[in-house]
Amino acid sequence: MKQPTSVPSLPAPPEVRVRFGTATAKAERYAGWLAGPGVERGLLGPREVDRIWGRHLLNCAVLDQYLPRGSSVCDLGSGAGLPGLVLALLRPDCSMVLLEPLLRRATFLEEVVADLEISGVTVARARAEDYASQDRRHDAVVARAVAPLDRLVGWAMPLLRPGGVLLAQKGAAAFDELEAARPALDRWGVGERDVLVVAEGGSVTYIVRVARPLHPPRTQRPAEDE
Ligand SMILES: C[S@@+](CC[C@H](N)C(=O)[O-])C[C@H]1O[C@@H](n2cnc3c(N)ncnc32)[C@H](O)[C@@H]1O
Repeated sequence: MKQPTSVPSLPAPPEVRVRFGTATAKAERYAGWLAGPGVERGLLGPREVDRIWGRHLLNCAVLDQYLPRGSSVCDLGSGAGLPGLVLALLRPDCSMVLLEPLLRRATFLEEVVADLEISGVTVARARAEDYASQDRRHDAVVARAVAPLDRLVGWAMPLLRPGGVLLAQKGAAAFDELEAARPALDRWGVGERDVLVVAEGGSVTYIVRVARPLHPPRTQRPAEDE
């Protein structure tokens, strides 16, 4: 659906202009969608409007550096498009699936994608468990504020190609979550895992990075492969 032109852009502060470069105009329009229809439709709390740039768009932008060129990416539990839409703006070389089960949110995403005329972005209305059964495989799965890591691992691994990575944005409890997810990670035979601590723009972001192994252990094959 082509979006009404009544959604005003939100002017970006200088640090956002530097970070988004030529994508700044589209980032401003996306921020306008979040601050306007996003709040009206209950996708974003009204108190978040003042924090759209720092707490939301710039916070999501830090994932950009961990996506290899030309990656196929899935934003699991995209909500209003975070972090997937931010990454799609910054990385036109990547393809992006915004995976979101709720109709209201998926509709919002479709409207924003159409209005911003971003290519390479698809909205998939599904739960990760169901989308996985459609036999899709991505180079990276990104997720922010979706589920505890042990559950997220179970949802994300089937969406990844062998060697693909889950990049989960977490709070300061990221190290504890990684420890608590050990049984889930072992079930998948995950060896490569770490927490990336990124200090950018005056705030710290914790990213749990987990790679799907090239070969699952024969004795502990996940149900998906049985
Ligand atoms: C708290 S919101 C976070 C949205 C966005 N990632 C953000 O950071 O603003 C969690 C989102 O995960 C979605 N979600 C919950 N369970 C899911 C599942 N099984 N598969 C895919 N998405 C799911 C919800 O519909 C919701 O939009």
